[in-house]
Amino acid sequence: MARVDVIRVKGGTPLTGEVTVGGAKNSALKLMAVALLAPGRSVVENVPRITDIAIMAEVLRRLGCQVTLDGGQATIDVPAEPGSEADYDLVRRLRASICVLGPLLARTGYVRVALPGGDMIGSRGLDMHVSGLARMGAQISGEHGFVIASAPHGLRGGKIWLDFPSVGATENLLMAAVLAKGVTEIDNAAREPEIVDICDMLTAMGAKIEGAGTSTLTVEGVEGLQPVRHRTIGDRIVGGTWAFASAMTRGDVTVQGVRPEFLDVALDKLVTAGAAVEPGDNHFRVRMSDRPKAVDIVTLPYPGFATDLLPMAIGLASVADGSSLITENIFDGRFMFVNEMVRLGADIRTDGHHAVVNGRERLSGAPVRATDIRAGAGLVIAGLCAEGVTEVGEVHHIDRGYPDFVEDLAKLGVEVERADVPEPTFDFS
Ligand code: EPU
Repeated sequence: MARVDVIRVKGGTPLTGEVTVGGAKNSALKLMAVALLAPGRSVVENVPRITDIAIMAEVLRRLGCQVTLDGGQATIDVPAEPGSEADYDLVRRLRASICVLGPLLARTGYVRVALPGGDMIGSRGLDMHVSGLARMGAQISGEHGFVIASAPHGLRGGKIWLDFPSVGATENLLMAAVLAKGVTEIDNAAREPEIVDICDMLTAMGAKIEGAGTSTLTVEGVEGLQPVRHRTIGDRIVGGTWAFASAMTRGDVTVQGVRPEFLDVALDKLVTAGAAVEPGDNHFRVRMSDRPKAVDIVTLPYPGFATDLLPMAIGLASVADGSSLITENIFDGRFMFVNEMVRLGADIRTDGHHAVVNGRERLSGAPVRATDIRAGAGLVIAGLCAEGVTEVGEVHHIDRGYPDFVEDLAKLGVEVERADVPEPTFDFS
């Protein structure tokens, strides 16, 4: 009989204590791809122990690298001539594998990467990756579910204007530009802290980049790069998840390992909702004694409110005093999980990219299902504000982004267990 993993939480306990957050998934994955740009051994430290990192290690192995993941670090030995293909079986499991496109094209002049397709948070295009690389001289075609890019005479610098500050497109173009001939200017670039982290690693490898963390990145191509050792920044989305969990449960949690300025807007929203937030150097504390007040939230590219914290924003609004308007501007399918929140008794109506949430004093525990990483974590956190037990299924999604999630919840005082339950089978004879 097939078995599925579930997380069960008993609601009603305020979270209290301290939790330490590891390296940012969305940095570490790309930093591992950055390593492809220099032959030899690069080491990425503070790598989270999550499924996505293991898949990225496999992507790199299939490109001829030797990769070990041990003690929170990824050691990557890159050959002089890396391979050029990323298969569908890995790319469909890890959409972020698409980030090998830029560095491989820059290094080898030819790359064939499977198209990842859409996912549960919506359709996710690649047009800006493709048109940016074409502007740098690449010839790009698509066939049999692959995107194929070649630049037999090498890439050359150019001026690229992104229609939207896409994180993935900025990263791919940046990783291609560092080895292109001449100067590349990427305008309307993404400004996420993870982009700055990538720029820092590239600069340490010998790349010439100006404007990291601003909307204009200027990259002067160099002949070659050196392998390095680099430490990943803390995961602001995991940190933000604990911040919301503390406020929603009227708890008192100190989050270590994340710079609070990466979460400025999110923490400010919690203050508006009535929380006390004490920022520190690489940590912050969130306390809440009363029921949260309703607060309107709009997701935007950094430094706006992160779309990856939208499920937590909906959770907060679901138990807040009053009505909140939550607007999603990045992904067209991010509200998919709202039906699961409604199963927990939340009063939510969506229309296009808006959700109107009427807060309830308490939610009501029920079996629900994770639809993506952040929705999964959001549902567990919502379950902490529900009467009785909430059972979240398909928690393999949560494993993709939250190392030690259950252990951390238990440390913060939650009655929680992870269980392996049989899935019912049906006889159609
Ligand atoms: N887009 C296009 N064309 C493109 C590129 C993007 O239309 O060529 C659209 C996408 O369809 C989407 C929007 O632009 O609607 C934003 O996409 P972006 O490229 O910025 O996002 P991403 O690189 O695919 C990363 C994170 C996401 C995070 C977003 C936004 C990784 C691996 N993923 O995705 O993280 O939500 O940036 O901040 O870095 C997660 O960790 O759970 C997650 C989904």
